[in-house]
Amino acid sequence: MRKPIIGGNWKMNKTVDEAVREAQDLKLEIGQIKSVEVVVFPPFTALESVGKVLRGTEIGLGAQNMFWEEKGAYTGEVSPLMLLDVGCRYVILGHSERRGYFNESDEEINKKLKSALRSGLFPLVCVGEKLGERKDGKAKQVVENQLRGCLRGISAQDIERIVIAYEPVWAIGTGETATPEQAQDMHYFIREILRELFGEKVAQVIRIQYGGSVKPENIKDLMSKEDIDGALVGGASLKAKSFAQIVRYGES
Ligand code: PGA
Repeated sequence: MRKPIIGGNWKMNKTVDEAVREAQDLKLEIGQIKSVEVVVFPPFTALESVGKVLRGTEIGLGAQNMFWEEKGAYTGEVSPLMLLDVGCRYVILGHSERRGYFNESDEEINKKLKSALRSGLFPLVCVGEKLGERKDGKAKQVVENQLRGCLRGISAQDIERIVIAYEPVWAIGTGETATPEQAQDMHYFIREILRELFGEKVAQVIRIQYGGSVKPENIKDLMSKEDIDGALVGGASLKAKSFAQIVRYGES
């Protein structure tokens, strides 16, 4: 049985005060939930304050990005050790906004992934095709290439600590969700690739999240699919009420 994992990616939103307020609300609403692994990803500036609020709860803390070096002359970057230092256990790598706006390549994501694993963080690795790629019938090829590139040289033992997030770029922030069937189809395909690369056991235990316009109204249908093990939520995670509803999808 794979334990569902639901992440709230706050992206470049919220001052420290706003972030602390949301964390306090989440603590009250879903702070003790154990049936789902819940993680929030505030902006770097709010990590430490949010971490303090969430201490003693079941809600995990993660960062939205990191650099692969541990320290040094890399102006503007944040290292895995710094993330651990402020209480992070998780890190998102290769989000499509990083790939798109900051030209992150699979090779760079692979370096970050190895560094995150070395430092003891739990990485969420994002993959997903653009609208044109889907229309051209290339969605699976694109996702397969991203997976192979990002996961190159990772051991079968380490891979079990990774979560894959399938986020079709055309569904992010657009209100247009992939249908549960479209998502399931791609998740099944991702598991096949993982089986080929790392063997049956890994394919069975590794969790694959769906991301892209997930909301309280569609989470249940998505989660009913065999290979969908959780969600990475952007917009609908910015309000404690809607994020808590998503996390509690199993209760209604
Ligand atoms: P969205 O973002 O829920 O706002 O579509 C998802 C994501 O980018 O992780």
